[in-house]
Amino acid sequence: MRRRQSFVMVRRPVSRVARAYRRGMARSPFAPSFWRSPLRGPWLTSVLGVVLLGGITLLFVTGLLSYAAYNPDLSPVNDKTPDKGVLGFYLFSWPTDPHWLYRLNQGVHVTLGITLIPVLLAKLWSVVPKLFTLPPARSLAHALERISLLLLVGGALFEFVTGVLNVQLDYLFPGSFYPLHFYGAWVFFTAFVAHAVLKMPLAWRSLRQLREEKTELVSPDPARPTVSRRGALWFVGSGSLLLFATTVGQNFDGVLRRTALLAPHGGSDPASGPGGFQINKTAAYAGIDPGETSEEAWRLVVVGRAGRTVRLGRAELLQLPLYSSALPIACVEGWSTSDQWWRGVRLRDLAALVGYEDDPPDVFVESLQRHGAFRRAALRANQVADPRSLLALSVNGEDLTPDHGHPARIIVPAAPGVLNTKWVARLTFGDL
Ligand code: HEM
Repeated sequence: MRRRQSFVMVRRPVSRVARAYRRGMARSPFAPSFWRSPLRGPWLTSVLGVVLLGGITLLFVTGLLSYAAYNPDLSPVNDKTPDKGVLGFYLFSWPTDPHWLYRLNQGVHVTLGITLIPVLLAKLWSVVPKLFTLPPARSLAHALERISLLLLVGGALFEFVTGVLNVQLDYLFPGSFYPLHFYGAWVFFTAFVAHAVLKMPLAWRSLRQLREEKTELVSPDPARPTVSRRGALWFVGSGSLLLFATTVGQNFDGVLRRTALLAPHGGSDPASGPGGFQINKTAAYAGIDPGETSEEAWRLVVVGRAGRTVRLGRAELLQLPLYSSALPIACVEGWSTSDQWWRGVRLRDLAALVGYEDDPPDVFVESLQRHGAFRRAALRANQVADPRSLLALSVNGEDLTPDHGHPARIIVPAAPGVLNTKWVARLTFGDL
C-alpha cells in the first residue's frame, strides 16, 4: 500500500508535464493534425509541381540567355561574376538577329517569373506541413534530404524576391544583383532538378490515378472542405492571370501598354519617358553635367589600330554618312519599346576611320555617366560589324534628348538596354 502511494506521488507531476507537452505539440505546426486542409495531398502538389516544372525550366533557360547577352566572356567590365568558372560553360557570342531577340527573351523571363508567383506560393502552401517535421533529421539520408529542401525552398524564394526587387525597386539587397541572382539560380535549379526527378514517379501516379495516395501531406484529421481542389486551382490560376494581364503590356505599345499597371518607371504610360518612349536612367540620375555635353565642350574620342585617335564634335559626326535603323530598347527589367527610328553613324564606319577598314573588331565604349552600373561596356565584333549598329545622334526624327543619351548613344540590334550606352565619350576599337 505504501509502495503504491509513493509511486503515485512521483508519477503525477511528470505525467502532467507530458500531457501538457503532448497537448501543446498537438496544437503546434509540428503535429500532423495541426494541418487540417482537406485539399492537401499529392494530387494538388503534383499539378502545381508540373506547372512549375515547365515554367521554372523556361525561366532558367531565359535567365542564362540573358546572362549570355551581356557578353561576359568578352571583357571584365561586362562580367559581374568573374569567379563563375564552369558555370559559364555555355556562353557564346550574342547574335544581332533577330533584332528583337533580347526583347523576347527578357519579356518572357520577367513576365513568366511574375506570373508564376501565385503558383509558387500555392506549391509552398501545399507542402508546408513537411517543412515542420520533427525531428529535423532522423538519419544522415534524411538530413541530406532536408538540406536539399532548404536549398530548394530558400533558393526559390531568394530568386523570386531578388528578381521582383530588381524590377520594381531598382534593387535593395546588399551586393550586386547580378552575382546573387546568377549564383542563386544555379543553386536553386540544381536542387529543383533533383527534387523533380525524385518526385516525378509520385507526381505521375498522382496525376493519372483518381484515388489519392495517402502521403504525409494528407491530413490525418481533415476539416470540412470550403472549396474543391479544382476551385483552389482556379483561384491560383486567376491570381497568375491577373499578374500576367497587368505585366505583359510593358512589352507592347498603344492600349496594351496602358494595361501594364505593374511595370516599373511609369511603364504603363507610353509617353512617360522623354521622346515618347521609356527610359531606365535619366541624365540627372546618371550624373551628366550639361556643361560636358554642350556643342562646344563635347568631343567623341575614337581610338583604333596602333593607337590611332580621332576627335569628333557632333557637327563633324553629322557630316559623316548617316544611316537609319529601326530597333527597340529592351531592358533587363523586362520592359521593352517597339522599334524606334534611330539615325547616326555606323559603328563599323567609325572603326574604319581609325584603321579597321575591312574587319571591324570589338569595341570598348565609355560613357560620361557617373552613377549607375554599366558606365563602360564592351561589344563584340559581330555587333560592331552589323550595318544596323549605330552611334545614334537622333531618334524618331529629332535630336536625342538628354535622357535618351544626347549628344550620342550606342544602339545595337538584339542587345540588352544597358549595352546601348548613352552619353558616349570614347570608343576604343580592338580585340578585347
Ligand atoms: C519551385 C519549385 C518547387 C518547390 C519549392 C517544391 C517544394 C516542395 C517541398 C518543400 C515538398 C515537401 C517535401 C517532400 O515531400 O519531399 C515537395 C513535395 C513534392 N513536390 Fe515539390 N517543389 C517544387 C517543384 C516541384 C516539381 C517541379 C514537381 C513535379 C515533379 C514537384 C512535385 C512534388 C511532389 C509529387 C511532392 C510530394 C507530395 C506528397 O508527398 O504528397 N515539386 N515539394
